[in-house]
Formats: sequence, C-alpha cells, structure tokens
Amino acid sequence: MKLVIASDHGGLDLKAAIISHLDGTHEVADLGPNDTTSVDYPDFAHKLSEAILTGHADRGVLVCGTGQGMAIAANKHPGIRAAVVSDVFSARMASLHNDANVLCLGQRVLGPGLALELVDAWLAAEFEGGRHARRVGKIDLSA
Ligand code: RB5
Repeated sequence: MKLVIASDHGGLDLKAAIISHLDGTHEVADLGPNDTTSVDYPDFAHKLSEAILTGHADRGVLVCGTGQGMAIAANKHPGIRAAVVSDVFSARMASLHNDANVLCLGQRVLGPGLALELVDAWLAAEFEGGRHARRVGKIDLSA
C-alpha cells in the first residue's frame, strides 16, 4: 500500500515517529513540512488529499495539534474520508465501516505509543463493503 503523510508544525514529531514506525513495511511519502516553522494546516491537508485523489497514494495520515483542523480541511475534498481517532476501536472501525482513506491524529492529544497503535489498527482493517458501501456512497453530495 502506498501511503502519504503530512503534518503542520504541531504534528512534526509524531509524523517522524510514524514514518520511522512504518519503515520497511509500507512505502510512505513525506509531504512535509520539514522543519518547525509555523505553517497552516490546510495547506498540507489539501496537498495530501490531492495526492490521494490523483492516485499517487492509496491512503494518508495527517497530524496536527489535535487532528481536527486537518480532518475538516481534508473532508472538503469529495472522495476523501478523513477520520480523527484517539482510540483503537474507532481507528479500526474507520476502515471497516467508513472506508476512511485518511487518518487524522493529534500530537497534543495522543502519546506516541497509542498513536502508532492507531495507525496499525487503521491500516490492518479493510473496508467491509456491503451495506457500508451504500452508506459511504451517500456521503459525497456532489456524486
Ligand atoms: C496549530 O497551532 C494548531 O491549531 C493545529 O496544529 C491544529 O491543532 C488545528 O486543528
């Protein structure tokens, strides 16, 4: 699976930890930022969303202080289903039932150990389809 990851300045350390954690098991492209300069999270949410929608990656992870701003921005893109999670059950269900193609995490909310478990749970679970496909199909109002 091809992954993309991006953050803002508030998610930089967790982004690095996730890249290191996935090294060797997944192809992960880091879309930035590369230093601690203050940046605007929508710029990175849009960049990552476009990478997925143009087929350059299958799924993506966005990290900011809370995960919330990233999700709000990414979900403006039809076809992006971004889920903010902070527990393993929800991370798994985001894949199984919601076909979430973007996981949003909050570096100021989560410890790194839990955050990595969330990434693993979300990646390991596969969309169940069936009645969930019908529901997911109703999300995009422009379709
Ligand atoms: C940046 O200070 C902070 O607002 C951002 O990382 C994020 O938490 C927004 O949702």
